[in-house]
Amino acid sequence: MIGATNGARVSITGLGCCTPERVVTNDDLSRTLDTSDEWIRERTGIRERRIALPEQALSDLALPAARQALAQAGGEPSSIDLLIVATVTPDMVFPSSGAVLADRLGMPDAAAYDLSAGCTGFMYALAQAYGMIAGGLSSRALVVGGDVLSKIVDWSDRSTAVLFGDGAGAVVLEAVDAGGFLGFELGADGAGGVHLNLPAGGSRMPATAESVAGGQHLVKMNGPEVFKFATRVLVSSAERVLAECGLSVADIDLYVPHQANVRIIDYAVRKLGIARERVVVNVDRFGNTSSGSIPLALADAAADGMLHPGQTVLMTGMGAGLTWGSAVMEWTGQTNGNGQSRRREETVGG
Ligand code: UT7
Repeated sequence: MIGATNGARVSITGLGCCTPERVVTNDDLSRTLDTSDEWIRERTGIRERRIALPEQALSDLALPAARQALAQAGGEPSSIDLLIVATVTPDMVFPSSGAVLADRLGMPDAAAYDLSAGCTGFMYALAQAYGMIAGGLSSRALVVGGDVLSKIVDWSDRSTAVLFGDGAGAVVLEAVDAGGFLGFELGADGAGGVHLNLPAGGSRMPATAESVAGGQHLVKMNGPEVFKFATRVLVSSAERVLAECGLSVADIDLYVPHQANVRIIDYAVRKLGIARERVVVNVDRFGNTSSGSIPLALADAAADGMLHPGQTVLMTGMGAGLTWGSAVMEWTGQTNGNGQSRRREETVGG
């Protein structure tokens, strides 16, 4: 799916994020796994990640992130009529974390649901919220991207356990006079889905004592295959959306790629020819937070003074599905002067 948004002007007017307080370093992991700080840093760029406490679920991270985004955008939570939570680690299969969160935030009139597109979920949810607002179905949307992958990672598998972290981000979308989203490009390659999956717990393989004992409820990944896919789609998706919008790489002020591995980001940056100082990288501090990755990176860029109204921002995600998705937008920031855009992410837990 590809399209330039030459009609309705819709933008992000509030941004927030939240990570668990608990920091787990590479050295911490090397105490229980046959790995090392050196291997993890060299092969992935990750130094540490945030890991939720046993009692913390996705909505516990999403709630502070959403409150921060709403505070920045201004207005009452009840003004939100659409809430999409992009995640593969909802609090439970149903009710959706969207419905749980709408209740916790006090949004009685919002349509609320979850969206599953792996690490690309946030990009899919942005496009969906844009379409609902542009189509007149929604006037104000809250989009959350977040995951608590630590709950589904196999902590005895060094090839996956070192990569992931927990975190959530949230944005408010609404109509603006100028700027905002310029185009989207989204896609999925189900044939490649086998390279990154969680086999059990659905209707194909319901939970049994054997499925649990066999680790079938934990993430399985063919790292090198996902690496090849990631480097390919980060480049092709960016090129396609830019061409559709009549833009070139030279027009991009800020590039916000999915934070999975710094080597994947470096490859895309080199191939696309984007200047390094225009690239947001925080995978070193958070690891791969799946759907939380891009909103966390946006919030970091805002806190670091890298994100300003009028800038052209390119975001590209990729992940399980296999899926990918890009958006280009002219950043507007909050439009009501209620801004706290230089505030760091919230943390929860102890
Ligand atoms: O959001 C999307 C989700 N996923 C991704 O984007 C991940 C994409 N893939 C990757 O980032 C990389 O493929 C990994 C970081 C997962 C792996 O890096 P790699 O350079 O592709 O390594 P590899 O899988 O080819 O493994 C190389 C070696 C192997 O040992 P041998 O067979 O050469 O002796 C692995 O067993 O590294 C070994 N290895 C490790 N060694 C120390 C794998 N994981 C570790 C580890 N510590 N944590």
